[in-house]
Amino acid sequence: MLLAGADDYPGWRDAARRLAASGVPADDVAWQTGGEPTDLLADPGLALPPEPGRALRVSRQFPELAETAILHRDPERFTLLYRLLLALQTQTRLLDDPADPLVRRVQLLAKAVRRDMHKMRAFLRFRQIDDQQGERYVAWFEPDHHVLRANAGFFVRRFGAMRWSILTPELSIHWDGEALREGPGADRAQAPGEDALEEMWHAYYAATFNPSRLNVAAMVKEMPRRYWKNLPETRLIAPLVAGAQAREVTMTAQVVAPEDRPTTLAALAQEAQSCRRCPLWQGTNGCVFGEGPGDARLMVVGEQPGDGEDKAQHPFVGPAGKLLDRALDEAGIDRATIYVTNAVKHFKYVQRGKRRLHQKPNSGEIDACRWWLGQEIGLIRPRSIVMLGATAIRGVTSRAGAVTALRGKPVDLTRDGFAGSSGVATFHPAYVLRLPEREAADEAFRHIVEDLRLAAQTDRRT
Ligand code: URA
Repeated sequence: MLLAGADDYPGWRDAARRLAASGVPADDVAWQTGGEPTDLLADPGLALPPEPGRALRVSRQFPELAETAILHRDPERFTLLYRLLLALQTQTRLLDDPADPLVRRVQLLAKAVRRDMHKMRAFLRFRQIDDQQGERYVAWFEPDHHVLRANAGFFVRRFGAMRWSILTPELSIHWDGEALREGPGADRAQAPGEDALEEMWHAYYAATFNPSRLNVAAMVKEMPRRYWKNLPETRLIAPLVAGAQAREVTMTAQVVAPEDRPTTLAALAQEAQSCRRCPLWQGTNGCVFGEGPGDARLMVVGEQPGDGEDKAQHPFVGPAGKLLDRALDEAGIDRATIYVTNAVKHFKYVQRGKRRLHQKPNSGEIDACRWWLGQEIGLIRPRSIVMLGATAIRGVTSRAGAVTALRGKPVDLTRDGFAGSSGVATFHPAYVLRLPEREAADEAFRHIVEDLRLAAQTDRRT
């Protein structure tokens, strides 16, 4: 059976289902992947049987196990999985028997793949280069197994705001902020040392990018089609890298093992100063971390520091901060008792002459910064979390949500991983400041005060 690629789980699954339904024994099937055809392929006896009329028996764990194990480099994996699929037809509980040699072998394959995926997430290093469209982050990695496609979604979620490429000996994946594209592998002989990556990028990308190798199925899986609509063919050919020097800047996926996570707010704040999870740190005075007592029962989450906050390196000290202070006062809340932070911790702006104009953070930046917010919430365990505006709602819940739809009642944060905290959505103070009509601004301000009171009550009730 010819599969489209070394990690072609859907192809294997479809073929395996049909073969198994027709009772084809495992020894009669030779599995091959694209690019390594043999004479067997010419054998008419290997024609794929028709779709099975009846459903095959598989326990619920099998598809996930197979989808993972198939990424292993072991050339026997397709046969082993097919053997297991056949065995499951008569021994439905077989997967519950870890002593069974076949089950054990397949589980070991899956375990090695999971470890390899984790290694890639933890140890991959991006290096910043400049191409004609600006910054791009490029990483070279040599996975042990075929895990790059399966891991692409992770890097999109983690670094969605940046343009990046991951090059491996077998495959390369490129993200331009909207869509994933694939290219062939990079030459192992060109594997870069510390400073050779940019040079490699020049040689490699100019010579090898091949749009015909797009793997549509894998990409649709990782990235919904709606992100694909603006894919002009011309952009498939990436521009050559300008001759800029690679800067001594690296970005890491920063998967932090639980035992390595800072255990105090001070340590967390200090570590955040060297955050490279997204590019917003550039051109700022630093990371404006949250402030307040470590045992605060109420946490207020804003959008991001503004110009004044970046200069002062403290949250909510500018005009929006003054309005927040007034609302807290009216709600009877002492700011010294609460923890005030932001969904995004670096100031995002565009320079206009001498002025730095605020820019809204995008979802990739909010999601990248969510790691820090999650750690703050985890350490403080506030009873109540006030989300000021849509960015804070996304930061806390990792979903889009409108203030008007959510405000006025507690928001359950259990499925966001913050079971002990109750959310309260309200308007951002800057929104009030921007409203041209005095009456509308007064009304929005009153709503903020009411919502802060609601949060304080939730705090007292629990
Ligand atoms: N706006 C915010 O969202 N946060 C600040 O810290 C200041 C203004």
